[in-house]
Amino acid sequence: MELLKERIRKDGVIKEGNVLKVDNFLNHQMDIGLFNEIGREFKRRFADERIDKILTIEASGIGIAAIAAQYFGVPVVFAKKAQSINLDGTMLSAPVESFTHKRRYEVIVASRFLRPGENILIIDDFLANGCAAMGLCQIVEAAHARVAGIGIVIEKGFQCGGKLLREKGLRVESLAIVDGMDAATQTVQFRD
Ligand code: G4P
Ligand code: NA
Ligand code: NA
Repeated sequence: MELLKERIRKDGVIKEGNVLKVDNFLNHQMDIGLFNEIGREFKRRFADERIDKILTIEASGIGIAAIAAQYFGVPVVFAKKAQSINLDGTMLSAPVESFTHKRRYEVIVASRFLRPGENILIIDDFLANGCAAMGLCQIVEAAHARVAGIGIVIEKGFQCGGKLLREKGLRVESLAIVDGMDAATQTVQFRD
């Protein structure tokens, strides 16, 4: 998505440790005009899929998913993050290991919001090692629903998440794939 790549080139800040800060338009301040175009693009890419529901994860996925959902005409469910949970059968959960933040947590969704047989589109802002997306897939599976696809705003193509998910046969659509970045020169290299 050219508009998104241009915006990353213009406003993205590359930090040490291969972290791309996009606080100016995605992760802190949100450019809703851009979110709207992102939502439209997800709909275009998944136009051939029947989608019943969008699943995302708090916090940064919610804004993107909410605006994309208007193009699909479906509800959004966001998974919550917690340190520990009491499993009583009303909640579905999966463990996630965050490499960026060096911590472990559970992603949790109430089972009544994911029904057997539903087609679920997973949406998130970033894909790095894919742990969050993998956790969401696990929850969908536990609900006996189906992952219709995974829509990502920015994929860090030099980390393993995209490869792992695609190797599992999942359809991953990333609107910008970053194959490399250099903090010294502040340059980002995109996949074509
Ligand atoms: P993974 O799920 O793909 O394995 O990613 P990882 O654990 O490494 O990432 C943890 C968090 O950091 C995620 O947000 C992810 O979206 C974000 N992230 C990963 N790489 C980058 C990056 O280069 N730039 C930015 N801006 N974010 C990155 P989160 O912890 O779930 O936080 P939230 O912002 O959604 O609350
Ligand atoms: Na996220
Ligand atoms: Na994030």
